[in-house]
Amino acid sequence: MIRGDKMKIHVMENASQIGKAVGSLFVDAINEKPDITLGLATGASPIPAYKYIYKAYEKGKVSLKEVKTFNLDEYVRLPKNDPNSYYSFMHRELFDRTDIKEKNVHFLNGNARDTEKECKRYDDMLEKAGIDIQLLGVGRNGHIGFNEPSICFSKGSFKVKLTQSTINANKKYFSENPMPTEALTMGVGSIMKAKKIVLIATGNAKADAIAALVNGEVTPVCPVSILQFHHDVEVYLDKAAASLL
Ligand code: F6R
Repeated sequence: MIRGDKMKIHVMENASQIGKAVGSLFVDAINEKPDITLGLATGASPIPAYKYIYKAYEKGKVSLKEVKTFNLDEYVRLPKNDPNSYYSFMHRELFDRTDIKEKNVHFLNGNARDTEKECKRYDDMLEKAGIDIQLLGVGRNGHIGFNEPSICFSKGSFKVKLTQSTINANKKYFSENPMPTEALTMGVGSIMKAKKIVLIATGNAKADAIAALVNGEVTPVCPVSILQFHHDVEVYLDKAAASLL
């Protein structure tokens, strides 16, 4: 396979334009396949796209009642209802504002006693469902989901120790409970199995990771670089994130 041959790169004015473009891509995909399976991300990057989707729902332009979702990751030992859990994030930013059914939304359970068993449970469900479109952000160190820089790519879900770079980027959100230093994440192998991948990155802090995604060596030291081997990736950037291309 020729790496990067099918990567479509869109450079847009700002995060809100990206939100409209990505949001409408998802709305169209849902309208085309109402029982679509989506892989979803948290963090700042997807918020404008989620807003576009729930606004489209409010206007009667889309329904999520048959949509199935799988989130990429969840913190370990953070109560599910903590405002910073990814479960809470997704309900606040998207699910509670639409007609999606709770039984159709899936998360890794960061409070499971046996994390290996929990990861296996999630991977089995993922395998059965098959992700149609996976939405991704990217960490400044090139992580996708919480697949941090490493010596190998992980196939399935696993428990990860977060790097200092990720802790520094996310600790600003934590006030009640301290930020967990571990998370459960879908593996790179599962992300790569999605039929289509849509990645959003904005701001200067992401420029190195984006340069590595587009032109760098494919290496687990920069996990996002693996996307060069996927056949259908769309990347949505602002000018700052695209500044090193
Ligand atoms: C979150 C996730 C992470 C984020 C990444 C970028 O579910 O999977 O990989 O996408 O840390 O975060 P933001 O968008 O906040 O810069």
